[in-house]
Amino acid sequence: MIVPATAASIASAVTVLRAGGLVAIPTETVYGLAADASNDEAMKALFQAKGRPANHPLIVHLSEAVELDRWAHVCDEARLLAEAFWPGPLTLVLTKRAAVSSVLTGGRETVAVRVPAHPVARDIIAEFGGGLAAPSANRFGRVSPTTAADVAADLGDRVPLIIDGGSCSVGVESTIVEITHPAVEGGQPQVMLLRPGGITADKIAAVLGQPVSVAGADEPSRAPGMLASHYSPATHMELCPLADAAPRAASLRASGARVGIISLHPIDAPADVAFHAGGDPAEMARSLYRWLHQADADALDVVLAVPPPEDGLNDAVRDRLRRAAAPRP
Ligand code: TXA
Ligand code: MG
Repeated sequence: MIVPATAASIASAVTVLRAGGLVAIPTETVYGLAADASNDEAMKALFQAKGRPANHPLIVHLSEAVELDRWAHVCDEARLLAEAFWPGPLTLVLTKRAAVSSVLTGGRETVAVRVPAHPVARDIIAEFGGGLAAPSANRFGRVSPTTAADVAADLGDRVPLIIDGGSCSVGVESTIVEITHPAVEGGQPQVMLLRPGGITADKIAAVLGQPVSVAGADEPSRAPGMLASHYSPATHMELCPLADAAPRAASLRASGARVGIISLHPIDAPADVAFHAGGDPAEMARSLYRWLHQADADALDVVLAVPPPEDGLNDAVRDRLRRAAAPRP
């Protein structure tokens, strides 16, 4: 059931979470499916509701950065990033504290942590009084939800309570950064971007005063769950360079297909539906998943996606488009 975020519905959400239940909650990135991150049975139910493999670890969501030390061993670099970007769309992967459950971490020695900025998420976590595990509130492999209605369409039969906090303002998942320290004393820590998102690698490098390496697409093991095929709509998707969009759309339509085009700027090409962001990268990130859901709802046959140029926030959109268009397993 979808209920608007009010003091009463937030209190019900907290009651459900304390009893080991699942609640879908808004965050500024995408909607999350929340469970008590200290309750193994609750998290196992969460994996089951999503149909997610047990070795794909979850992110624990905290209400304040001061809580971080209870979950992870915190280095100076992590503190700098937390100060600069929390609350906000940044997830830190750090060495976990001994008490942190291996159900949460998928058996790893590291834990992923973030403090979301959405006021409803923060109220729920603060009133709950602990950490909430919250993967995106979609079935495994599918498109992440940016509205309460998207959650209901994908998971409504498995999640009794969906708290509606409006449309997500960022629209793509948080940036994930892993910080590792060399075994030798005095060596420089390595900072690696595992998933591009709302906070760009350049901004992270500027705060730390050191370069950030970017995990290659061929390194799925560093962030298990970042699979080649992910965020997939039911509609067939094709990546298409700008110059090819018009002829490709025309030939698909000539064969009788209903065609949608996704692009940053408006494009002069024949399409049944044109999704574009008026040239604004933030708007494109915010709208991308809504467009993918819309393509399914409109029963399009093909979506041609023109990747935006490599830069800043576009990197998150390029990453999601590549995975959405990848061959499905
Ligand atoms: O914006 C977000 O991060 C959203 C909202 C709901 O907060 N959550 C989200 O969760 O995207 P999820 O479960 O869909 O993605 C979590 C990603 C996975 O790719 C997982 O492999 C990675 O985080 N991850 C979690 N713990 C990790 C760890 N210890 N080491 C490396 N990657 C980890
Ligand atoms: Mg996800």
